[in-house]
Amino acid sequence: MSLIDLIKPHIRELAPYEPGKPMEELERELGIRESIKLASNENPLGASPMAVEAMRNALNEVNRYPDGASFALRAALSARLGVDENQLVFGCGGDEILELIAKTVIGPGDEVVYPWPSFAMYPIVIRGMGAKGVPVPLNREFVHDLDAMADAVTEKTRLVMLCNPNNPTGTSVGAEAFERFVAALPADVILAVDEAYFEFVRRPDFPDAIALLSDRPGTLVLRTFSKIYGLAGIRIGYGICDAEFASYLERARHPFNVNRLAEVAALAALDDEEHVRHTLEVNGAGIEYLTDELGKMGIETWPTDANFILARTGEGVFDALLRKGVLGQPEPLHGSNDHTLS
Ligand SMILES: Cc1ncc(COP(=O)(O)O)c(C=O)c1O
Repeated sequence: MSLIDLIKPHIRELAPYEPGKPMEELERELGIRESIKLASNENPLGASPMAVEAMRNALNEVNRYPDGASFALRAALSARLGVDENQLVFGCGGDEILELIAKTVIGPGDEVVYPWPSFAMYPIVIRGMGAKGVPVPLNREFVHDLDAMADAVTEKTRLVMLCNPNNPTGTSVGAEAFERFVAALPADVILAVDEAYFEFVRRPDFPDAIALLSDRPGTLVLRTFSKIYGLAGIRIGYGICDAEFASYLERARHPFNVNRLAEVAALAALDDEEHVRHTLEVNGAGIEYLTDELGKMGIETWPTDANFILARTGEGVFDALLRKGVLGQPEPLHGSNDHTLS
């Protein structure tokens, strides 16, 4: 008997997560300074100053456990979103919400339909529960192929993931297509709509996934404080769903999964209208600039509703940018060598 025999087969098979090198290390290796990291779609303007101030004020209280119910944040967010307080589940980043869904609804023998390329965590959480992932390629415009996704649902499907807007393409699906897709989904399949980039959306016909919750209780909408509020490093995200569904997710989480500083930071960030306004302004201007300037260079880009943009750069551009201190995210899409820039 060796150690590996004691490890669950589906955990053995997982490729270990390989964190990127810290930027300081890359800078040292490449002999550059003031590099620009675009690869994780963070907020380049920094964290909400109001959130930073709130964390500073809470530093002396870290001897106390966090509020396991996130009482104040829950009240503020439920008022903001127009949902009941018991329809919210908080997690250590949106990543943990994904894990809670997986832990709660899937296991060996189950299938999960998800778009691909999309957020890298989907196949990891699916395989981590011993379930089978069924990736469905994006269509030629790099948008979710909703018909193909609906067709991929079988009697074994327990969960369908949608990433809207999609990471890494920035593309999104509109209300009409979304509603048609939802109507085609069997009621006994959980639908998780990952809206990590919701606050950046520009298209006017973006679907109102929260409005779906009353008709379709097996639905969850995922959001995060990591992107627009610039709080990626403190780790807080949340799910919005039917109250009964939330009660099961609550059973699956550990009591202090959201730390004390994250709770106060998120609460303060919600009121930081200036930081949100500035972030949206800079992001919008950046998208216009990159679309225009890359277009002038003959480089194709795709419409984006997020804080990054997909560009067809061809080979070698990722490395050339890296040498100049700009870290993008290479994406081999449909066999071509594309490249996303946030
Ligand atoms: C589509 C998508 N979902 C979820 C997340 C998770 O975000 P976090 O765990 O930082 O809240 C990310 C982060 O990049 C993302 O791109």
